[in-house]
Amino acid sequence: MSPASLADSAPTQDERDLAQYESRIDRPPQLKVAEFSREGRLRHVIFSGQFPVDLLEDLADTADKIRLLSKSRTGQDFLLNLLRHKRAMLYFTQPSTRTFLSFMAACQILGMTCNEVRDPTTSSETKGETRFDSIRMFSSYFDLVIMRSPIARLAEACAYLMNDLERTAARSVPIVNAGSGADEHPTQALLDVYTLQRTFQFAAPQDSPAASRLDALRRDYPALRTGLTGKVYGFCGDIGRGRTVRSLAALLAQYEGVTLAFVAPGHPALRLSDDLRRRLEQRGVRVVELESLESSLDGASAVEQFDALYMTRIQKEHNLETDAAEFARIDFSQYKLSLDQVRRMKPYAPILHPFPRDQHFGEIPPEIDNDPRAMYFRQARNGMWVRAALLAHVFNVDHQVARFYHEQYGDWTATRRIES
Ligand code: NCD
Repeated sequence: MSPASLADSAPTQDERDLAQYESRIDRPPQLKVAEFSREGRLRHVIFSGQFPVDLLEDLADTADKIRLLSKSRTGQDFLLNLLRHKRAMLYFTQPSTRTFLSFMAACQILGMTCNEVRDPTTSSETKGETRFDSIRMFSSYFDLVIMRSPIARLAEACAYLMNDLERTAARSVPIVNAGSGADEHPTQALLDVYTLQRTFQFAAPQDSPAASRLDALRRDYPALRTGLTGKVYGFCGDIGRGRTVRSLAALLAQYEGVTLAFVAPGHPALRLSDDLRRRLEQRGVRVVELESLESSLDGASAVEQFDALYMTRIQKEHNLETDAAEFARIDFSQYKLSLDQVRRMKPYAPILHPFPRDQHFGEIPPEIDNDPRAMYFRQARNGMWVRAALLAHVFNVDHQVARFYHEQYGDWTATRRIES
């Protein structure tokens, strides 16, 4: 938690509430994972370190099954009954389009009822109610709270609140972090990985621009394999302030032999933070920092070396007045992808972006959208399926999905070939 939020001589109750969880929040992630799980299943979804590779595989598998079942009336009816008795609160006090709507659609696919608070000025927080009182109230009426907040670690603190309530046998519900300040966005990382999993199966043309050409590609790229291991992932743009980059990098770091290359201006606010770099290197990841997409990487322009490229927007809303003079000296054009660069990228390398893209900055101009490697719209749709899979996991109905799928389709597992 930032000391600034606690700096005033008379802290508000909101600040005191957060402060009481500070020592738990400050522990290394691996010490916290167990507290957010129950019987081998996630209870709260707070940070991406809660997703080991086998869970990522399971979620992708469930997402594929839900996706296919959704194509038939029988499958849809089955899914609609799965969580018909559950209600979700979407508490989003920071702007959101995709995350909000895809969570809502995911809830609806599984039959859950949703309600929302998006503007705290319409809630009792304007009457002085604390956020923790709000959350506790939501937990009285709903079975799940999905929350986005500008405050880093607020979702984590709310999960501790729920755990404390659980210990006293009071009502307690799962908390899902849908973006917490500059800190984490674990479910965005899930959908990013799900997109990469599908792409690097080289199975379906719509998921993988090199579909069914893996053998042909191996003539030019003999080391190319299916799956996420051993690949070079490029991240470009606002690396320092983008929570999606932090969460995704932590997930990719679990795969053997990956290189993570961060292309960002050298300014301390924008480049890779020291703590993230250290964490990645501790996991044995090769971390490279570059000034531009054209900087040299292993003997060629970086953009030509990436197996996947994750573009981000420059998060101007976080600009500080004190940075203005230094920002004015940065050549930001180096963090925009051009059509010429796309032509030089590997023929199978997906271009991802968490969106929104910034029309004024233009990090991905619309001319690129028709390229089969432009994966960002599919990526957003993948978010709906993988979030539905996550809800099925949290509420322990994923095995019912698997059983019903098996009854319908037997052992047919070519689900990733389907168009949707
Ligand atoms: C991102 C976010 O909110 O962190 N958007 C999203 O959830 N897809 C990225 C951003 O705002 O730039």
